[in-house]
Amino acid sequence: MSTAHRQLVKANIESLGSNIDKLSQLFYRELFHIDINLKNVFPGNVVFLNRKFANMLATFKNTAHLEKITASVEKMGERHSLRYGVSPDHFASVEQALLLALRQYFGENFSPALDAAWQSVFAEVSAIMKVAMANTPLDEASSGHYDETTYDSGLLAEVGGKDGILRVHQRFYAVIFKDPWLGKFFWGKHEDVLAEKQSQFMVAAFGGENMYRGDTPAFVHMHMFITDEMSDLRQAMLKQAILDEGFSESVAERWLKVDDSFRSSIVKQSIDECVLKCLGQVPVTAEKPIAYRPAWKSLK
Ligand code: HEM
Ligand code: HEM
Repeated sequence: MSTAHRQLVKANIESLGSNIDKLSQLFYRELFHIDINLKNVFPGNVVFLNRKFANMLATFKNTAHLEKITASVEKMGERHSLRYGVSPDHFASVEQALLLALRQYFGENFSPALDAAWQSVFAEVSAIMKVAMANTPLDEASSGHYDETTYDSGLLAEVGGKDGILRVHQRFYAVIFKDPWLGKFFWGKHEDVLAEKQSQFMVAAFGGENMYRGDTPAFVHMHMFITDEMSDLRQAMLKQAILDEGFSESVAERWLKVDDSFRSSIVKQSIDECVLKCLGQVPVTAEKPIAYRPAWKSLK
């Protein structure tokens, strides 16, 4: 492992700023040139493809303490097998396409040192993912189906685009921040900032423009001990916010279906599954208060 390599890659990704979509387009052009069959693994429109690419780069940006986030990277490997129909053989094509795209994008600024750093970081991350994949059955049937079940082309327009989504999230965060149980996760956070980020994220998840520049939900929440019960409760609050904003039951169901596609990357079975991002960090959790009454019910 090389700390210097990881730092070089992180700085290189950060230097992309909002041009990440340009690199993404170069990447997919190379990838489908190398193996046209990968279009089955990466279905969907350019917006979807850009989001997946941004997710992948977010992983490479977060390797400073890769040893500490191994569990989370393993889980990601499992999802690649179980849900995205990816096999270990695909990694070589992705690596090749990524390096070709980086060399084109940065031109002569892509030094041999950067090239070596990317190869080493890609190898480190994929080694962890591949070990986990070897223990997980490849679900060929799921290949390409992930988007079709979560992608809902009319939804973004029906909820009034980003503005409608933001109004729902403002309602939602106003309630969850006050909740005696889930509210504990949000101590010290800003409602407005989260409503904005969550809205950018969901616009992209609904197939719109990708304005979200944060990390993938698996990384954002990896130090939080979030259970299925908490997730159900959060979704009940979100549903109520969608209905209170005047949308129909069917819109709420479709919204929650997309939301739910991120659940498995966030929910943990035990606190030991929490992954700490830096030295000194402790898992974030919240005890259910005795005689708990959800804020959204008591507000009624
Ligand atoms: C070291 C290499 C890789 C990294 C770090 C990586 C990272 C990620 C991340 C973080 C996501 C977001 C969803 C999640 O967290 O589960 C994702 C999604 C995805 N990855 Fe990878 N990936 C890698 C290699 C590959 C390869 C080799 C393929 C197949 C050729 C692939 C195909 C996909 C697909 C299809 C999705 C889509 C999920 C969706 O529809 O949102 N990935 N990847
Ligand atoms: C019970 C379930 C959940 C809890 C308790 C929770 C909690 C949190 C907290 C505390 C933050 C702030 C993190 C920080 O600023 O350091 C956050 C950020 C975020 N969460 Fe969640 N979350 C949950 C589920 C979800 C789900 C299902 C999604 C995706 C659909 C999601 C998407 C996000 C996004 C996009 C951010 C912003 C990340 C950024 O700062 O860029 N969360 N969440």
